[in-house]
Amino acid sequence: MLFERARQVFPGGVNSPARALKHLPSPLVAKAASGPYLYTDRGRLVDYCMAFGAIILGHAHPRVKRAVEEQLERGWIYALLTEQEVEFAEAIRRHMPSVEKMRIVNTGTEATMNAIRLARGYTKRDVIIKFDGNFHGSHDYVLVKAGSGAATWGIPTSAGVPQDVVKLTVVAPYNDVDAFLKAVREVGDRLAAVIAEPVAGNYGLIIPDAEFLKALREETKRVGALLIFDEVITGFRLGLGGAQGRFGIRPDLTTLGKVVGGGFPIGIFGGRAEVMDLIAPSGPVYNAGTYNAHPVSVAAGLAVLKELETGEPYRIADEAAGRLAKGIEDIAGRLGFDVVVKQISSMFQFYFKKGDVKTPQDVRESNEKMYLKLHEIALRHGVYLTPSQFEVNFTSATHTREVVEETLAALEKAFQQLKTEIG
Ligand SMILES: Cc1ncc(COP(=O)(O)O)c(C=O)c1O
Repeated sequence: MLFERARQVFPGGVNSPARALKHLPSPLVAKAASGPYLYTDRGRLVDYCMAFGAIILGHAHPRVKRAVEEQLERGWIYALLTEQEVEFAEAIRRHMPSVEKMRIVNTGTEATMNAIRLARGYTKRDVIIKFDGNFHGSHDYVLVKAGSGAATWGIPTSAGVPQDVVKLTVVAPYNDVDAFLKAVREVGDRLAAVIAEPVAGNYGLIIPDAEFLKALREETKRVGALLIFDEVITGFRLGLGGAQGRFGIRPDLTTLGKVVGGGFPIGIFGGRAEVMDLIAPSGPVYNAGTYNAHPVSVAAGLAVLKELETGEPYRIADEAAGRLAKGIEDIAGRLGFDVVVKQISSMFQFYFKKGDVKTPQDVRESNEKMYLKLHEIALRHGVYLTPSQFEVNFTSATHTREVVEETLAALEKAFQQLKTEIG
């Protein structure tokens, strides 16, 4: 079996932990993908993971494919400036005016790492505040989680992160203005930056109150720290302006990834020109990369932006997520499950719990076992929901009405089966 071979060569048999699907005997094995579908060792599945949000036009979109093929014809790496990357950056800046200047790197992880380094270089301060349940990639500055309750000095979520680094990352509860203000007071004049997902998509889906985001903006400004919006998920997914456009908040720095690379490796950090000009070679904060602004990723990203500019992909993807959210609520309600559904644009998630979900604590209080059980049953009915309650479901421009209807019919059966199985 492939998984056995994989286990011999990869830790846990996979190359990223979320692919392990611990509630299943073995991970899914992909063979191909097209539109809303994944073709796997379990057959054809309607995909709601969409590479953890990297795909918004649908798998193997013809326009993206053509752009990549055309790039391949011209060679695929030069490690030189290209006209295409300037055009790409200009398009990003047009849609996200806070990103006056940017650097194009290879992953969201690199983007947040560099944004934080830059904020420290700019402010000449060393402490950052991040939020419980927000994920900014897998580097030392941000692999820190909260203790419960009020802000605490961080505890690492990974072995190997030096205590001296952890000490510089304070974790505050998400979507809690008072706790955030308290954390800012505690850190005092050492605060370099606050980094936040403006809509949290790594602890299920948590949509913050507008006042929370406003408090982040006002307070960082007041104390001379920078506000970093990590829009690796939300950038170009919640519309062309991202979460910052939607909530009307202008961060100092922004990180992008996923959608903006059309499924090819990318990360971008950018923001106020005056701050970005501290990046080498124009300033003393170092960033460099052999693969920075990789021509294939840039070609794919540019093709995605051109398609998104028509508005049509958002119309289809957002409508699909809305119909699915409503449909799941209806099915669960009819069958007597307590389920909370959250949705914004083309992101949605549901939780087996009563009440509401407004904080990571609310997510922790929901019934994860039920989610995983339903996930497993839905797979048997041809639907690949996002594989954890702590992730988000994503729709794309290929999740048409027919695909959504097909999904809801399958989910109806899955919920019924879940009811039978739990008695
Ligand atoms: C909000 C956010 N920031 C950063 C990252 C890291 O991006 P990458 O996986 O490209 O390193 C992720 C990845 O899931 C993310 O969701």
